[in-house]
Amino acid sequence: MAATIMDGKALAAKVKARVRAQADTLARRPGLAVILVGDDPASRVYVNGKRRDCTECGFYSEEYALPAETPQAELMALVETLNTRADIDGILCQLPLPKGLDEMAVLRAIAPGKDVDCFHPFNVGELMIGMQSFQPCTPAGVMELLDEYGIDPAGKHAVVVGRSNIVGKPQAMLLLQRNATVTICHSRTPDLAGQCRRADILVSAVGRQGLITGDMVKEGAVVIDVAMNRDENGKLCGDVCFDEAARKAAYITPVPGGVGPMTRAMLMVNTLTAARLHQNG
Ligand code: GUN
Repeated sequence: MAATIMDGKALAAKVKARVRAQADTLARRPGLAVILVGDDPASRVYVNGKRRDCTECGFYSEEYALPAETPQAELMALVETLNTRADIDGILCQLPLPKGLDEMAVLRAIAPGKDVDCFHPFNVGELMIGMQSFQPCTPAGVMELLDEYGIDPAGKHAVVVGRSNIVGKPQAMLLLQRNATVTICHSRTPDLAGQCRRADILVSAVGRQGLITGDMVKEGAVVIDVAMNRDENGKLCGDVCFDEAARKAAYITPVPGGVGPMTRAMLMVNTLTAARLHQNG
């Protein structure tokens, strides 16, 4: 049977409409500040998308586009100012930062209550114990997709390929919170194919085109492709060989149009959550 293609674009539109309706009931509209340092073209595309999302959701947004040579102290001072602003609920510093800037110092400087990326060590710690105010956007978007298609992770074997702080590790935590049995695979995992074949839910977040071939997918599995790579023609693609995997999977996400739009939608959810926290004192 052909796999069901999980439509992240449609679900993201639904989530954003829900956020907009809820934002409209608040006394003050949610505010998001986005910091972009340097001129990485991919980062610029992401930041533009975030600004459009804010407009769609009725949020106030500010963008700080700073040159790559910006001194660390200046970046820290900007974050400090944004921390104290009553009209700014969320602060996002687009990663990666140009060489020479200390990414972790910037992430630590963002007030945890405004950390809509959920990258601050305090929020990462809360995530570990299941007490989080915010969920990291990409993994939360994956969970939202699973829910939308009626896929309950409880009792399933989930295999997460990739152990980044942004996706792999928090993804494993969210799946664990929903009672999946979770295996995290990485570059030193022997027999990656064998591990993947045991997955009821396979999440790949590595960034290597062609990594997940059809023979690595169990019949009837759910295949989630988080990666955003460019192929030899400059076209967006994920880690998964889509056609081969779709012949085996029950559900599969496309790239583009799968997880990507959900990441952005979940940023709007987190900004709304932050605004509610701030407005309720
Ligand atoms: N760079 C790639 N993904 C992300 C993300 O989710 N948040 C931030 N701040 N930077 C990123």
